[in-house]
Amino acid sequence: LPHQIFPGRLNSAGVDLADPLLRRPLLAHLDELATLCWEAEPTALAGEPGQAAEIRSPYDNSKVVGTIRNASAAEVAFAAERAAKAQPGWNALGGAERAALLEKAADAFEAHTPEFLSLCQREAGKSLVDAVLELREAVDFLRYYAAEARAHFGEGRPLPGPTGESNRLTLHGRGVFVTISPWNFPLAIFIGMASAALAAGNAVLAKPAEQTPLIAALAVRLCHEAGIPDDVLQLVPGDGAVGALLTARPEVAGVAFTGSTETARAINRALAQRDGPIAALIAETGGQNAMIVDSSALPEQVTRDVVASAFQSAGQRCSALRVLYLQDDVYDGMLEMIRGAFEALVIGDPQALTTDVGPVIDAEAKAALDQHIAAMKAAGRPVWQRELPADCAKGTFVAPTIIEIEAIGDLSRENFGPVLHVARFKGDELEAVIEAINATGFGLTLGLHSRIDATRRLVEAKARVGNFYVNRNQIGAVVESQPFGGEGLSGTGPKAGGPHYLPRFATERVTCIDT
Ligand code: NAD
Ligand code: ALA
Repeated sequence: LPHQIFPGRLNSAGVDLADPLLRRPLLAHLDELATLCWEAEPTALAGEPGQAAEIRSPYDNSKVVGTIRNASAAEVAFAAERAAKAQPGWNALGGAERAALLEKAADAFEAHTPEFLSLCQREAGKSLVDAVLELREAVDFLRYYAAEARAHFGEGRPLPGPTGESNRLTLHGRGVFVTISPWNFPLAIFIGMASAALAAGNAVLAKPAEQTPLIAALAVRLCHEAGIPDDVLQLVPGDGAVGALLTARPEVAGVAFTGSTETARAINRALAQRDGPIAALIAETGGQNAMIVDSSALPEQVTRDVVASAFQSAGQRCSALRVLYLQDDVYDGMLEMIRGAFEALVIGDPQALTTDVGPVIDAEAKAALDQHIAAMKAAGRPVWQRELPADCAKGTFVAPTIIEIEAIGDLSRENFGPVLHVARFKGDELEAVIEAINATGFGLTLGLHSRIDATRRLVEAKARVGNFYVNRNQIGAVVESQPFGGEGLSGTGPKAGGPHYLPRFATERVTCIDT
């Protein structure tokens, strides 16, 4: 790691599933956990309890994973008041002490690997490979933000001044931060946003997605056991209405949100209309991600990377490939190879080691995707769709699908699932393709497969996109190596897992001493 900023800091090793000595006991442990019924509730209890909800597996809707007791309005208010009281003490601890607690939490997460993997599979419908990646990313966020806090939230940075004057810039928590996360990274993004806010010296009200609160509750419990006080980090489970109650609280000094662009806009409006401090908003939102493949690309590599980018995690990554642009002269051959690999995808039970594509998260997501595919068929688009195995009827599965379209502008919104669109372009239309991609207004990920340096330079210069991947897949950004986040309709920045993230959770203070 020649450019490592924090020497000695390494990302999590995860679990090597290819090693039978690790895999066999892990699978046995996951079998034992497969019928465990989890229970969780808000950290701060007050007054009449809020509504309880059963969480059912997206793979088999008859299976109950656990029960969540959501926060009532009184509990939202109580949690916000507790957080406001606790924050100054947490901020005063300083970056190094907060970092040590976050690192203890990271160790505890690794020690509970089977429980986290089991919940990723059962609650979120993730394949085992995806579950391992999810836990790794969560641990990486904890350790990386700890390193950032230790480096930048201590004595501060000396600034220049005339003789006899000393100037110093220090970073501090803003106050109470609300974090609102999506279901598609129910652990990594949930703890990523919360740990950044904590590292910077904020108290945190953490609202997980309503589909995946149980894994978030385990994460919060382990953070508390690691020594992070339970008034400094509080779980506030519930749906969008609970999110809206949280963002309306006058104690709130900042919101970190990851989810859809529509919800980010709603939160932005709510914050603007509120009394109290002018709150910071960090929003990471959706994408209409494309990949451009020209005739110099290597077909086998393209096939592998397209299939991974579009269908891994059942296409439920914000980074996932939605529109593949293939150059005219290689279009037919390349599409045939991609369809070959697509036909080989194993669809089904996320708990089976061989599964490539699991369910989508819930009936609403399935209905939206099925409706999109039906509309495309009705419009006469060529569509290839896999047959779903019989046991998929138990859950919310969408058949992996490839649809030929004219251009990215044919799509009116992000289709968040295993649906790949393919369009054709001529060699002299490259700039027009980039303009069409930019015109969507989204700017999250972009893939390019080309062996021509000038093409790479052109796309890099013209595309308005947060993460640009060349000759590889376009998913799975690694903490510190590929800080992640988009621009335009895809988010406000800064990039998660990167050096500019923590300062946005902080306020800056200058102390000037005249001796
Ligand atoms: P969503 O916007 O429906 O929900 C996200 C969160 O917002 C949930 O916790 C929900 O309860 C909450 N919420 C809903 N309405 C609210 C309101 N009015 N006030 C406050 N909170 C409210 O998104 P989702 O379906 O859970 O997640 C999928 C979306 O997330 C996709 O668009 C995907 O592209 C995006 N995403 C983006 C990134 C990124 O880093 N850019 C990462 C993952 C997911
Ligand atoms: N960070 C996630 C990825 O890159 C969203 O796939």
